Parts: sequence; structure tokens; C-alpha cells
Amino acid sequence: TRQRTFIMVKPDGVKRGLTGEIIKRFEQKGFSLLNAELMTMDRSKAEYHYMEHQDKPFFGELVDFITSGPVFAMVWEGENIIEVSRLMIGKTSPTEALPGTIRGDFANSKEENVIHGSDSLESAEREIENFFGLLRRRRLEDDF
Ligand code: CMP
Repeated sequence: TRQRTFIMVKPDGVKRGLTGEIIKRFEQKGFSLLNAELMTMDRSKAEYHYMEHQDKPFFGELVDFITSGPVFAMVWEGENIIEVSRLMIGKTSPTEALPGTIRGDFANSKEENVIHGSDSLESAEREIENFFGLLRRRRLEDDF
């Protein structure tokens, strides 16, 4: 089935100039880019994005890292993209991320691992809403 997912180049990936390579891999796979923006996340956006990890010991460091510089946030669409994009991204642990995957080819740290992809339909909806939806438009209007 056709799905949408949220894919984000993390601050280490943006700094290392990997954004183009990552877009290229998703395009070559036949997926469609629906929205994209370079932005620096504030802590409230980061905490909402990573809410499933809020009780983990590394939560504070995770939020520090993801807010440390610009990320490249994207919405992609395609057949079974949630599952397929996770395969393209590869595992979190550098000893498990296979060559040929994005992390397998470009990451060697489980904290700074270049890219995020939604792990379920529910996360995809929440993450897209957090970055591109009404919540964000309201925050921008408040600032205005
Ligand atoms: P990801 O798999 O995209 O989503 C959860 C993130 O938490 C993971 O990438 C890592 O960036 C981060 N993470 C996982 N384990 C640790 C850890 N032990 N210390 C710090 N960050 C971690």
C-alpha cells in the first residue's frame, strides 16, 4: 500500500554534506518527495519527536544532539515506504548496519547516525504533523 513517511538528515549528516546522496537514494528507489525544509529544531519539537525515548538514560543527549545544528526534514511517499525506508537506512548499531544501507555506508556511531526514518504509520503521522502540520503553523503564527 502507498504510504507517507518522515525522513530526516540529522545534524551530523547535514554537516558532512550527505543530504544530496540521501535524496538521490530515495529518488532512485522510485519514491516521491512531497515536502522538505532545512531547519534547526527547538527543544520542544525535539522532545515531541523523540517522545517514545523520554524515559531512556540517553534522552537528554539525544535532544542536545538533534538540536545542535540544522536538520533536513522531508516527507516521502511510495509503496510500503515505511518498511522499505527502514531497510535502506539500516540498523542503529554500527556493528549491525549492513554495507549498502545508508548507515552501513556512512555512519559509525549509534548516537550520530546520519538519518532518521519513521518506524510505524502512527509515528509517521505524528512526526509529519510535528514538522509540517498545523502544530507548526500555529507556533509560527504565535511567533508572528
Ligand atoms: P534512531 O534509531 O533513529 O532513533 C532513536 C535514536 O536514539 C537512535 O537513532 C540514536 O540516534 C539514539 N540512540 C540510541 N541509543 C543511544 C544511546 N545508547 N545513546 C545515545 N543515543 C542513542
